[in-house]
Amino acid sequence: MGVTKAVIPAAGLGTRFLPVTKALPKEMFPICNKPIIQYCIEEAINSGIEDILIITGRGKWSIVDYYDRSPELEAHLAKKGNYLQLEKLRQLSRMANIHYIRQNEPLGLGHAVYCAKSFIGQNPFAVLLGDDIIKSDIPAIKQLMEVSEGTGSNVIGVQEVSERDVSKYGIIDPLHNDHDIYCVKDLVEKPSLKDAPSRLAIMGRYILNPSIFSSLEKIPKGAGGEFQLTDALKMQIKLEPIYACNLKGIRYDAGDKLGFLMATIEYALESPEIGLEFAQYLDTLYEKRKNMRIPFI
Ligand code: G1P
Repeated sequence: MGVTKAVIPAAGLGTRFLPVTKALPKEMFPICNKPIIQYCIEEAINSGIEDILIITGRGKWSIVDYYDRSPELEAHLAKKGNYLQLEKLRQLSRMANIHYIRQNEPLGLGHAVYCAKSFIGQNPFAVLLGDDIIKSDIPAIKQLMEVSEGTGSNVIGVQEVSERDVSKYGIIDPLHNDHDIYCVKDLVEKPSLKDAPSRLAIMGRYILNPSIFSSLEKIPKGAGGEFQLTDALKMQIKLEPIYACNLKGIRYDAGDKLGFLMATIEYALESPEIGLEFAQYLDTLYEKRKNMRIPFI
């Protein structure tokens, strides 16, 4: 049976974006006029997912509000005759079956995924981390589904990162490479450069078999004192093969200030509404700084 359920962990504290994340969940930061989490939801829907479970935590109510109906706003738009906006708004709450579970304590990604156990049942499922926006022709999670349908195995999305960034990610030890698909020999969460087995980093996209839950039950706390999904996958390798797929597309770390700005600029430049004017503004800004000899660092 194909993958029809996805889990989107969104309970993280967003410490890289403090102080704004004290009051606003990072998943709701806007990239143009859509929140970060919406890019993940659209990726899942465009890959054929029907049921999405968002793992929320304290202070994340605005995510639930965003996917709910908004009777006052709808009545206001209807009264004004703004039927286009009204339909767009209604579509948001009809897009998919969105479910919620609240993670009571931020105990790490492994624990967040474990919270989905009773929702998942017996079939393989997708995990999409909301921080990672992947802009691609074929949705990133769909690329992984194609590998998992062929192998029946757990599949992880990876991309090569620079040496400087290796310690920010889960890193795989690839056994061999067959057309951008690697068999995974080992994984390590946030290794130092000298301990990293490669520069192939996990990019926040996974297709997992439900057997992962028995490993998630057994893992001790790992990197950062948290329960790590990477450690559960490492445990699973002894029981079943794991593959990694080199994702085709551009990935933005939207949970980081620089990555967030890069994604904002890229999507704004493509916007039919403001793209051209924004490009002209960037050109003017560039020329101005060049003439004033303001360094671009
Ligand atoms: C998580 C995973 C890590 C992965 C990363 C991708 O880390 O634990 O393996 O490489 O997402 O963004 P986090 O960024 O939540 O610390």
